[in-house]
Amino acid sequence: MATNWKNAQWIGSPEITLDATRRSVFGIEATFSGQGGIVFGAEDARLATKRRNIQNQSASSYISYKLEQGKLTITRVGYAEGDSANKPFAEVEISDMDINAINTLSIKVSGNMALTYLNEQLIDGEEVAPRFPGMSTSLVGRQLNPLGHNDVITFPRLNKIGLLEGATYKNLRVFELRKPKAELFCADSTECLSFVGSLIDPSHGGATVLRQEFDVSKEVKSAKLYATSRGIYSGELNGQALNIGDGKDYFTPGASQFDKHLFYHSYDMPLQQGKNTLQFTLGSGWWSDAQSFVVSNYNFWGNNPSLLAKLDIEYADGTSETIVSEPDTWQVSNDGPIRYASFFHGETFDARIQPTDWKPAIIVEPVEITAETFPRHPDLNYTQPKIIEHPGNPVGEIVNLKAKSVIAIEDAFIYDMGQNMVGVPRIKVIGEAGQEITLRFGETLYPNLPEYSYLQGILMTENLRDADCTDIYICKGDPAGEIISPTLTFHGYRFIEISGIEKALPLDDVEGIVLSSILKETGHFECSDPMVNKLFENILWSQKANFISIPTDCPQRNERMGWMGDAQVFAGTSVYNADVLEFFERFLISVRDLQKEDGKFPNVAPYDVGFGGILWESAGIIVPWELYRQYGEKRVLEDNFDAMLKYIGYLRNNCVNGLFAQGFGLGDWLATDMSTDNELVWNAVYAYDLQIVADSAKILGKIDIVNELEDVLAQLKPLWNKTFVDPETGKTRSADGKINDTQTSYALPLCYGLFENPQKAAELLNQKTIELDYTLTTGFIGTPCISAALSDYGYADTAYKLLRQTKYPSWLYPITQGATSIWERWNSVTEKEGFGGNNSMNSFNHYSLGAVGAWLYSRVLGIRPGESGGYKEFILKPCFGGFDWVKGHYDTQYGRISSSWNNDEWTVEIPTGTKAKAELPCGKIIELESGKHTINIKG
Ligand code: BGC
Repeated sequence: MATNWKNAQWIGSPEITLDATRRSVFGIEATFSGQGGIVFGAEDARLATKRRNIQNQSASSYISYKLEQGKLTITRVGYAEGDSANKPFAEVEISDMDINAINTLSIKVSGNMALTYLNEQLIDGEEVAPRFPGMSTSLVGRQLNPLGHNDVITFPRLNKIGLLEGATYKNLRVFELRKPKAELFCADSTECLSFVGSLIDPSHGGATVLRQEFDVSKEVKSAKLYATSRGIYSGELNGQALNIGDGKDYFTPGASQFDKHLFYHSYDMPLQQGKNTLQFTLGSGWWSDAQSFVVSNYNFWGNNPSLLAKLDIEYADGTSETIVSEPDTWQVSNDGPIRYASFFHGETFDARIQPTDWKPAIIVEPVEITAETFPRHPDLNYTQPKIIEHPGNPVGEIVNLKAKSVIAIEDAFIYDMGQNMVGVPRIKVIGEAGQEITLRFGETLYPNLPEYSYLQGILMTENLRDADCTDIYICKGDPAGEIISPTLTFHGYRFIEISGIEKALPLDDVEGIVLSSILKETGHFECSDPMVNKLFENILWSQKANFISIPTDCPQRNERMGWMGDAQVFAGTSVYNADVLEFFERFLISVRDLQKEDGKFPNVAPYDVGFGGILWESAGIIVPWELYRQYGEKRVLEDNFDAMLKYIGYLRNNCVNGLFAQGFGLGDWLATDMSTDNELVWNAVYAYDLQIVADSAKILGKIDIVNELEDVLAQLKPLWNKTFVDPETGKTRSADGKINDTQTSYALPLCYGLFENPQKAAELLNQKTIELDYTLTTGFIGTPCISAALSDYGYADTAYKLLRQTKYPSWLYPITQGATSIWERWNSVTEKEGFGGNNSMNSFNHYSLGAVGAWLYSRVLGIRPGESGGYKEFILKPCFGGFDWVKGHYDTQYGRISSSWNNDEWTVEIPTGTKAKAELPCGKIIELESGKHTINIKG
């Protein structure tokens, strides 16, 4: 139900707050005459103790930029071995300057590099040619980070700042780099006097808290609140949290393509007689602060979260009243306990503070923010999106885990939650007022391998890259204890390092609240091989971990993005594990919002800041299809059909001699050898897209389109075979005729029905897999297909051996290494090679390679949707063998379907009102009505 917002206005705070310890994108500038300069990045807590950095530093740190006649001297101290206060890190000659004039020195730090300007002239940094045709030139600055530039832990952060002795200062400013270039800190000449030769922390403010107090003097019949925000909100009525259902909600209103759609939630409000207080705390969420893997994408949508709310009250006497967000009656404070919060960096909470310093809220006006630092920023951040009701439930709590063990390291304690999870800690502490407790999160520790020397046993955070994943809690000093439990951030972790406490906390007091959009599972699989059972559990964990408002690639590092490739390969598994219809419908709104004029779908949704090409973009076609097949909901096809067809138009317009040709695109991502020919795979997916859209057109009764697309397919399939299949051997090959036979080169086109001689292709796939001794060389794209491609053509035996393989590369190899979730790489960590050099792009919680889950349900349990989608009439067709026994179920909208078998019998349960066609091992097909059936499978 769309709501009329009446006169509600977007309200927020006039203060743009700053936490200098978390800021990696900023400008700092001083205006002065004489020899002087700026200090920043000082006393970085990450460099103060060895366990917090990989440079082995435990020193006080700073970076200074000193201006002398004709020269800029940069000094870096405490960031890496070799840094020294007495040795310049860099010197830059400057011609044409007068040190005695009034000069403005400006340093713009974006992630790991800095551009320096003197009186607006670039003096340190260079303009480089475009990376890709069509892109503009870019400025590359001095790299201050000892760890490198891309995909690394970011240094420096703003931290403490100061001024060098010797000059007369007019001012010192810290500001944002993107429009509207808010000033974050400013000191005039008098204030500057006290910063010379000393350091100050420029941080100020905390999360925006908005409140409205109103009186209720009549009997209330009903009261309903509608709320949304730019950023995320948590609301309270008279001190009680506002939640949609019984559990606690997180991160409302959720992620969307904010310039096109914004979600709202509605709440029944138990108002009390007399004074009522409605209060909202705003966080950056998916709106502002650090976003995506591009560090300069800071404040992607805006720099100031705001709220839109409306409360409709109906009184028993038939009158009504509406209270809306607007500046006159709402107050704002930035002085609450949440001093800082963002998804990537964590939360700082000072339990001693309650919001004070209430001032009038302001209207947060639309501000035009043009693309400045990265070409794909939206042109207008504060456009007028459609505000629609949030489909499905918000992120909620699913379970609380207790720590399993603890070890001491330096002055800290590392707790193992025993499970790679996503959520927030819930920790009980007893501390002195003002005691600062720091929590750091990681997925793993450095292994005890010689190459990790001094790093062995410390928390591994290189793979979090720019995401700080650190919570800070300042105790209020309650002798009965207090609870640390952040609400405006989340972390992907198995280990928590706690410092600032004297002795280890009891394990029971260190809990992890697991958060997900998946509040209920709908599927289960179990078999006689405990390792396969663990694999199944890990798949479920990784789905829950990465279904946080949108389907993300990973939940821990500075991505957590809706990569379309990942979503499309895992969709088929996810639809069994949980009812993800509304979850994905939400995602598809963003996908459609981002479709280009020419029909091209994005590679990431929301906010298309990624790459990938057809294998990624095709999520816009494959995801709706998977939803339709599993849930039988025609509306998914109706809602998405036009966009799907438009994408087909884009693909057809980008064909050369009948084959889809894209300049750049990813292939079978993260395959062990990455050798499958890209064009072969791209064109198989092109054909699959065509098939899906033709089938969808058939379902929707669009016969002309069916005919047209089937004609295209009728030409494409023979051309694909002619181009990519060697007529002599039947082996696959690349367009230049070179044999290119990999598991993926057979598996994917087999699943998508491309081969003229599929049996031959399956035979070659089987042969290849035996040659590889039943190990996997598939990446994200081939992995979902290989098992079905084998089992559907008579090689179930090979598919089972592949599934049960424990040596690398295989699904079970990570289990032998203690995995509790699905890894991004087949070898994310190995006993012999540790991370194998992949320290930064290495997530331990990426669902893509877990796409074999669909095969466990559809081919091992044998539960498959019927021809016309959904489970009103469905298919039961297991591949018997492979295990001593198997059991599991899938909860459809009609009830539970269960299937279990052993060497002798097969037992199934069919929900009331449904029926199934069951295929026996002998090939005989029988019709089963609702109820329980036991079938002898020996004959
Ligand atoms: C993400 C992936 C994604 C890919 C595209 C990665 O950084 O984590 O899962 O699909 O980029 O190459």
